[in-house]
Amino acid sequence: MADQLLSTVTHHGSLPETYVRPESQRPRLNEVLRDADVPTIDLGSPDLSQTVAQVADACSTYGFFQVVNHGVPIELILKMMAVASEFFRLPSEEKAKLYSDDPAKKMRLSTSFNIRKEKFRNWRDYLRLHCYPLEEFVPGWPSNPSSFKEVVSGYCSEVRQLGFRLLGLISIGLGLKEDYMATVLGEQEQHMAVNYYPKCPSPELTYGLQAHTDPNALTLLLQDPDVAGLQVRKDGKWIAVNPQPNAFVVNIGDQLQALSNGRYRSVWHRAVVNVDKERISVASFLCPCNSAIISPPEKLVADGSPAMYRSYTYDEYYKKFWSRNLDDEHCLQLFRS
Ligand code: OGA
Ligand code: NI
Repeated sequence: MADQLLSTVTHHGSLPETYVRPESQRPRLNEVLRDADVPTIDLGSPDLSQTVAQVADACSTYGFFQVVNHGVPIELILKMMAVASEFFRLPSEEKAKLYSDDPAKKMRLSTSFNIRKEKFRNWRDYLRLHCYPLEEFVPGWPSNPSSFKEVVSGYCSEVRQLGFRLLGLISIGLGLKEDYMATVLGEQEQHMAVNYYPKCPSPELTYGLQAHTDPNALTLLLQDPDVAGLQVRKDGKWIAVNPQPNAFVVNIGDQLQALSNGRYRSVWHRAVVNVDKERISVASFLCPCNSAIISPPEKLVADGSPAMYRSYTYDEYYKKFWSRNLDDEHCLQLFRS
């Protein structure tokens, strides 16, 4: 029910019980590394082989990187953030109409992660949209704010182009043809999560989004330029991804880990919340076509490394992902060969 939404409440007193994690599962914010960060890659560089090498290195060591000079117009980025923030400030009645906790819905406003399954709540509301093909989905998107459809559809097309460019760099870095991943992944779906993390009375006790890996192929995240919150797991420690204005944070999802036969890593990440600042992020997910067969390229198994995962369809994987808890073991473990 819509009264579950956090963004309909203007002031939160103390943190409700359902959000309080047991001692052993809390974020331990004072142990987070603040100065380590993930690599930043300049996509405006004319040196293609250097860019390919930087992407390959980031994908195999961090599974995460930021990109600048990425070609998505800055004006569109600013408009996207502005319309997202305006959306979550709409009156409660307006938001209530869009509420659903059914993960199968192609447009819904929801809260936490999957309240039908989870034991503890996350301090987050999110608007989830299917975005490809646009003609099919845009008519069903929110028409309030009035610029929503126009801004978000323009943003989605640009981000999709950037995603394909990155898939090209990733393919080349694996010694494959530039269009290899795009071809295997088929007619890719594109989903968006507009995440809203309100100010939280006790950030030490809960998460905006608990640790998870992304089940799709590639994720491009726009984060609030002024408020940190995303953290990435590396060598047993949590690293803060410091926001850079107008940059995208890119991460490898489970399907690229499988398709690279484990060379590229879909790593655990999480979002934490702040006492005095709300935070918005916009995640765009490139998702294999449901019938895409996920199986590593011959080239990556021929060199003596056996296939790490059995082949499966994305449809099979995605169903498995949503039937579990977010912080169970890595979902790919269930597909080991
Ligand atoms: C996600 C995600 C991180 C963030 O939506 O999958 O990891 O900072 N979001 O909002
Ligand atoms: Ni994620």
